[in-house]
Amino acid sequence: MLPDALENATLEQIEAMEVLLLRRLAGWRMRNFFKDDGPLRRELYGRHMAFFRAGATHRERCFMAGNRVGKTIGGAYETTLHLTGRYPDWWQGRRFDKPIHAWAAGKTTETTRDIVQLELYGQPGQPGTGMIPADDIVKARPRPNGNGALDFIRVKHLTGGESVLGFKSYDQGRKAFEGTAKHWVWLDEEPPPTVYNECLTRTATTQGLIAITFTPLEGATEVVLDFLTKGQQVTT
Ligand SMILES: Nc1ncnc2c1ncn2[C@@H]1O[C@H](COP(=O)(O)OP(=O)(O)O)[C@@H](O)[C@H]1O
Ligand SMILES: [Mg+2]
Repeated sequence: MLPDALENATLEQIEAMEVLLLRRLAGWRMRNFFKDDGPLRRELYGRHMAFFRAGATHRERCFMAGNRVGKTIGGAYETTLHLTGRYPDWWQGRRFDKPIHAWAAGKTTETTRDIVQLELYGQPGQPGTGMIPADDIVKARPRPNGNGALDFIRVKHLTGGESVLGFKSYDQGRKAFEGTAKHWVWLDEEPPPTVYNECLTRTATTQGLIAITFTPLEGATEVVLDFLTKGQQVTT
């Protein structure tokens, strides 16, 4: 239907369509990452691919690496796939085939808002400026007095239902991580062991996944050592 309509459209109409299409596509930021080709093609992100793939066989994962290598982008990308069900054809990681309950967390309320929430939802009041498509964000509930920080968002899932993503921060303490079962927990930056264990418990009954993306700024802490001594290293 589109080619015919375009064929008969005037230049002015095509230009108007261009504006509309670009605006709509801007809400689909996730399509810019891990593409088939181009300078940022996914074959150049071997470590990310290994990390994603490991989710098919491991409930607990950590992506431990230096600053600015794209850890947060990787975490936000996988979170978006699980929430929406929009797995690309090449995806070899875990797939949930129904809407999920998830958490994404960072160190403090502020860093969670400015990093984790920014990458997933976008700027406060501007859904779709993060990784989750604007068209899929059904509702965003702010935290009371949170200064733009969100409590949770509801996200359309491909099957027709809705996923729920709650935002948390480690500075709320372990008790804030008690609650109902979760399918997916993304921890951006290293969590205290108490928070980590609580999240692991939340994902136990669902056989869910937990992933930490972080730079070990605090040296060999308990969580780091656990992964280093008991974990299995995956390579590209
Ligand atoms: N897969 C990717 N494709 C394109 N750009 C990326 C990718 N991963 C990261 N970037 C860019 O690199 C920068 C750093 O990424 P980020 O995830 O914040 O790093 P880290 O969390 O490891 O410090 C960001 O500006 C981001 O847009
Ligand atoms: Mg980061």
